[in-house]
Parts: sequence; C-alpha cells; structure tokens
Amino acid sequence: MPTVRWQGPAGYWVSDERSLVDVDLVHGWMSQESYWAAGRPREVTARSIEHSLVLGLYTAEGEQVGFARFVTDRATFAWLCDVFVAAGHRGSGTGSFLVQTAIDHPDVADVRQLLMAHPGRSLYRRHGFGDLLRPERWMERPAPRGAATSADAAGRPGGSGGQ
Ligand SMILES: CC(C)(COP(=O)(O)OP(=O)(O)OC[C@H]1O[C@@H](n2cnc3c(N)ncnc32)[C@H](O)[C@@H]1OP(=O)(O)O)[C@@H](O)C(=O)NCCC(=O)NCCS
Repeated sequence: MPTVRWQGPAGYWVSDERSLVDVDLVHGWMSQESYWAAGRPREVTARSIEHSLVLGLYTAEGEQVGFARFVTDRATFAWLCDVFVAAGHRGSGTGSFLVQTAIDHPDVADVRQLLMAHPGRSLYRRHGFGDLLRPERWMERPAPRGAATSADAAGRPGGSGGQ
C-alpha cells in the first residue's frame, strides 16, 4: 500500500510511514508524559506501533514532534488513540492538523471511528466526534491486573480514563 503524506501549516507534515516513527521517542511520550499510558512498557508501545495504522507529525526539517494511531481492521472499526504533540509544538493548530489527517486517512475515512478522551475537550468535537450513540450497548473487559497493559489508566476499573 502506498504511504500517505499530508503537508500542513508552518512546514509541519504528517506521514503514515511506520518506519519513520521513532519508537523510543513515542515510548517516552506515552510512559512519562501522557495521563492515560503512564508507565506503559516500551515493548507494549513497540507492539502497538507495529500493529496499528500509525501517523507521525514532523517538522519541515524532519524531526518527529507528534504521534497518533488507529487500532483498526480498515473495514469496520477504527479506534483513534495515543494522540500526542510535543510540548513545544502545541497550541497553534498542529494537534488539529494531526487529528484531521488521521480521520481523513483513506483507510479509515469511511469507517466508524471511536476514541476516549477527557470530557469537555473541544478538539475532537470540532472534528465530528460526539458522545457514544448507544452507550448501553458497549461493554468492557479490562486488562487483567498485572498485565503489562493494565498500567494504562483506561485499562482498569476506576482508572482516570483516557485513550
Ligand atoms: C491534545 C493535543 C494533541 C492538542 O495539540 P495542540 O497542538 O495544542 O492542538 P491545537 O493547537 O490544534 O488545538 C488546541 C485545542 O486542543 C484542545 N486540547 C488541549 N488539550 C486537549 C486534550 N487533552 N484533549 C482534547 N483536546 C485538547 C484545546 O482546548 C484547544 O481547543 P480550542 O481551540 O477549542 O481552545 C496536545 O495538547 C497534546 O499532545 N497534549 C498532551 C497529550 C494529550 O492530552 N493528548 C490527547 C488526549 S485525549
């Protein structure tokens, strides 16, 4: 499948080329700076990147400054998660550009997309996300205690929620 690249504001660009993604950098963001995946082991992050539709955000010079991924079969379901923009590059539309390119990606543009986020944030609502249409139909089986992914806040009952 050909890779997709989008040109954005101020020289930023987004690519779905997995080999461009800096796994150590993303691991640092997830495990140390995110509220939903604090402590996530590097091996888990590496596996998640390997099996997802991944999007990297880069400066004009090619430095990676953001990340997002879809867990998806590219046919019926797509979960947008691990959306992150490096601190020094936030607040000027880069996050919006990253989310827009993600939801428009040709592999998932026509697929129902889901995400978990802090309630009340406008970013995702601006891009067409809303409350679950039928929340009563959704069920969740949290990761077992002690499993590597149970470090994720979203993976445990009583966790702070998140992506
Ligand atoms: C969320 C994030 C990707 C936004 O990137 P950004 O470059 O600041 O985004 P933009 O400049 O395009 O837009 C900023 C908008 O995002 C909103 N926003 C900030 N943090 C947010 C968050 N955690 N979740 C959702 N929206 C958020 C801001 O309120 C702002 O909305 P407004 O324009 O209506 O005021 C970035 O702040 C980030 O990586 N934060 C840390 C990780 C994180 O919280 N990820 C999202 C988890 S749901």
